[in-house]
Amino acid sequence: MTPQSASDACAEICALAPVMPVLVVNDVDDARPLAQALIAGGLPALEVTLRTPAALDVIDAMSSVAGGVVGAGTLLTVADVWDAKQAGARFGVSPGATEQLLQAAQEADLPLLPGAATATEVMRLLERGYWMQKFFPAEAIGGAAALKAIGAPLPQVGFCPTGGISPANAADYLALANVHCIGGSWVANAGLIAAKNWGEIEKLSRNARKLRT
Ligand code: 3PG
Repeated sequence: MTPQSASDACAEICALAPVMPVLVVNDVDDARPLAQALIAGGLPALEVTLRTPAALDVIDAMSSVAGGVVGAGTLLTVADVWDAKQAGARFGVSPGATEQLLQAAQEADLPLLPGAATATEVMRLLERGYWMQKFFPAEAIGGAAALKAIGAPLPQVGFCPTGGISPANAADYLALANVHCIGGSWVANAGLIAAKNWGEIEKLSRNARKLRT
């Protein structure tokens, strides 16, 4: 898969909803009800971070829930890429981008949303063909104002910013022409998942869905 077609695929996934939930799931038994709540609330594109021992099983379990598009986040290594692919991830997300990671994603045919935080990083990825990128850690590196500024010389790059985004600042990002969707954990944070509060997660998802009409 070429970087261009990887970015095309990621753009299609980002177009499914304004918000992509970033999920840290410890218990595989939570996978299906969690995915069902998020999808029922209108958020079908799900990023399951590889930050728990259960993550690959969670991706596998969530992938069988109708209506969802499940990807793997926190891809750091070549092994992560292949593990994610084998677990059934339809796309991958990384906080950054290394040569080995980009090569592995191309070889594995896994659409990758690579991370960038500076104009130079954005340009390097664009040079390679990645026109859709994750902007991370969004709030800490200047937030919506930084992304708007980057969009002036680089309007051809689309972003999914993540890191520190909440209902309080989500609209600032979504108002930007270069933001295709935003990522965040607030719709299904650790406390809500631990409490198995699927009703609240569905409600927060519904509200998130309404952020862009
Ligand atoms: C992450 O990788 O943790 C995402 O950027 C989500 O960040 P958040 O928890 O601040 O929403």
